[in-house]
This record gives sequence, C-alpha cells and structure tokens, in this order.
Amino acid sequence: MSEKLAINGGPKAKTTPNFPMYPGGLEIGDEEKKQVLEVLDNKYLFRYYGPAGCPSKVKQFEEAFAQKVGAKYALAVNSCTSALISALVACGVGPGDEVLVTGYTFFASCAAIVAAKAVPVICEINETLTMDPDDIEKKITPYTKAMVVVHMRGVPCDMDRIMAIAEKHHLRVIEDVAQALGGTYKGKYLGTFGDCGCYSFQYHKIITAGEGGMVVTNDQRLYDRCMGYHDTAACWRPDRFAEQRYEGELFCGVNFRMSELTGAVLLAQFSRLDNLLSLMRRNQKIIIDGIKDTKGIKVRPRNDDAGDTGICLMFFLDSKEKVQPFVEALKAEGVNAAGVFNSGIPDWHIYSHWKHVIGKKTPTDEGCPYSCPYHRGPQVDYDPKMCPKTLDYLGRVVHLDIPPQMSEEDCRMIADAINKVAAVLA
Ligand SMILES: Cc1ncc(COP(=O)(O)O)c(C=O)c1O
Repeated sequence: MSEKLAINGGPKAKTTPNFPMYPGGLEIGDEEKKQVLEVLDNKYLFRYYGPAGCPSKVKQFEEAFAQKVGAKYALAVNSCTSALISALVACGVGPGDEVLVTGYTFFASCAAIVAAKAVPVICEINETLTMDPDDIEKKITPYTKAMVVVHMRGVPCDMDRIMAIAEKHHLRVIEDVAQALGGTYKGKYLGTFGDCGCYSFQYHKIITAGEGGMVVTNDQRLYDRCMGYHDTAACWRPDRFAEQRYEGELFCGVNFRMSELTGAVLLAQFSRLDNLLSLMRRNQKIIIDGIKDTKGIKVRPRNDDAGDTGICLMFFLDSKEKVQPFVEALKAEGVNAAGVFNSGIPDWHIYSHWKHVIGKKTPTDEGCPYSCPYHRGPQVDYDPKMCPKTLDYLGRVVHLDIPPQMSEEDCRMIADAINKVAAVLA
C-alpha cells in the first residue's frame, strides 16, 4: 500500500530546508572580496586604462575562460543578450535575414535577433527540450542566415546534427550557453562548436557577478567584429585612430564593455566552476538513480548524459492534467518543484508567452525588422500554437532545480518524495 501523501496529512518525505538556485552566488566569499578590493585599492576600474601597472581583471578572466573552454578568443561583455547581439552582428546578420531559434528559451535569445535587425523563426524542441534538428530543416528558407541554438536548462543540443545541417545550408551557428556553462557534448565544451558561443553571468546562472556575459570564437575576424561592436569607442584597437585593417572591421557599435569590478568577481567565481559542476552532477545522479525505474514518469533524455551541467532535473508525466497535482503534492512533501506552464505566472521561456514577439511589437511604427523592405520572402508570422510539440513536451514536464549546496541526503529524500508521489498520482 502506498504511503499517505503529505498533501493528505501524511509525513513529509523531505524534512530539510531547501536552497535557492544561485549556485555561484551563494558561494561569494573571501576570494571575490580579495579580487574586488584589489581593483578598488589600485583605482583601476576600466579595462583599457587607469593608473599604470595594473593587469586588467577582465582580460585575465577572458584568458582563463578561453583556455578552459578551448576557444582561441574570448570577449567579456555586460550580459548574454549583449553577447548574442554582438555575435549576430559579427556574423553579418542584419536586415532581410531570418534566424532560427527554439520556442523554449528565455526570450532574450529571440530579442537579440530582433535587436540585430533580423527576423526570428521559431523552431520546435524535441524530447531533450533542445532544438529539434528535424524541424530546423523544415524552417530553412533562402533567407535563413543563422541559427541560435540554446543548450537549455544545462543540457547540450544535438550538435552533430545541427552542425551538419548548418554546413549543408551554409548557416552561421551561434550557441546560447547562458544556462550551460561547463556543459560538454562528446567531451568538447559547449560554445565551441558554432561560429560563436555566448554565456551569461546574471545572478541566476552557474557563476555570477549579478550581470555579465562572454562571447567565444575561434575566428579572428568574428572576434574583431565583436570587439568593434561591443566598444564603439574602439578603445580595444592597438591604434584607435588607424585605418581599418580590412573591409568590415570598423563600424559604429554600442557600449557593452565589462567593468573591472565585474571582471574581478567573475575571476574569483570562475575558479569555483568545476566544484559547482561536480556537486550539481553528483546531486542530479543521486536523484535520477533513485527514480529512473519509477512507473509513470520519464526522465528527460539528453543528447549526451555526461555533458549535462546538472543544474536541474526535468521529467515527463504522461498527461498535462497530472502535472499541477503532482507538483502540489511534491511541494507538500518539502520539495521545491514546479511545472513549466503551471507555476502561476506566464513563463517567458516558452514562445507562446512572448507577447512582444507574437504581436511583432516594435519600438517604432515602421515595424522593423518584420516589415523590412530588404526581406524578400513571405512574411514570417507567429501564433501561440505554432509549435505544438513544444507545447506538449513543456505541458507534461515537472522541473526541479538542483542547487550544489544540497547534501547527498537531501537528494535521496527528493528521490523518495518523487517515488512516493508517483505511486499515487503518476
Ligand atoms: C537561455 C538564455 N539566453 C539568454 C539569456 C540572457 O542572459 P542575460 O540576462 O545575461 O542577458 C538568458 C538569461 O536568463 C537565458 O537563460
């Protein structure tokens, strides 16, 4: 007979407190303070100049980052949105172009395409909850220039198939690694497969300075163009006032520069990355091992199990009607769970809630980029129901964050709680 659920007055399966999901943020301590104080003591707050003799923290962070992920170039910026826009602009994406993106990502991945003056085309996800390569092929038109592929909730996309499609159709690939720093695919770091990889250090991410971003690439021209766009004052040039070295190197950009204070925090946070990843992966494995044979639930399949960062656990129920009662029962057991659709607020990670995209909202009446005269193909239109597979998968999924601060015992209790609830409600 199944045990009485806590929601029905039974004992709780998990009796320990829960941690919020700020993996690196909760670890901020002496190392971060030391790095920041060095910046303040030296009065060296700008990466390109200041009182003589101080190595830039931002530059040190870029060098450590590039070396770790195995990229030739890394450019620190002030957010992942900025990183994505810089990468798109560097790749030559602009008026008249279409860019593929998934319907399951934070809407910034899509907004960056609009900011680069191109039209986003929304693709389905498959059961891995990352971009469905079968749908990519269906959505390519003569106007498709690039795709933004998102390693969503810490899990790698199917990079073999995605890169093969990109090669066949001569498309640029920009990887959105905002949620998957340190994740790999077949042993290679995410962000190093496509033309550019873009990362976030916003507070919810694996390592953080509250805000921050990074672009990596192996292509020197793309790097130069990212540099040019991210710092329109051209402080980065060996000689700011020199002629451009090649056509397309110099153009007006914006200011997405990272401050030395941010660089200092991130340099310290970066040294914590491996430990955070190994704790999250350990925790995730304990829970998955405890539930993998449980009837009525299916753990999200991954394109490469070993490459998952372990930031979360997602599993499917067989109908969407079961999700809310399941989540409520888990919460009563003491587990921080949520549905993706049913958490009470419209989740801006699901395309059907991207009102400003669906409604083609633009800052001026001309409607750029949706009504751009350079766009020669049929109008790209959006509908909340346009990706039914995406809505089906996300409607049936239960999500749990996996903070690295949790103990092994916490994780065993979570697995017990899921099994207990599944025995009654799955
Ligand atoms: C998948 C994804 N892409 C892009 C972003 C944007 O990152 P940022 O807030 O650093 O601009 C986020 C942030 O939540 C994200 O989750």
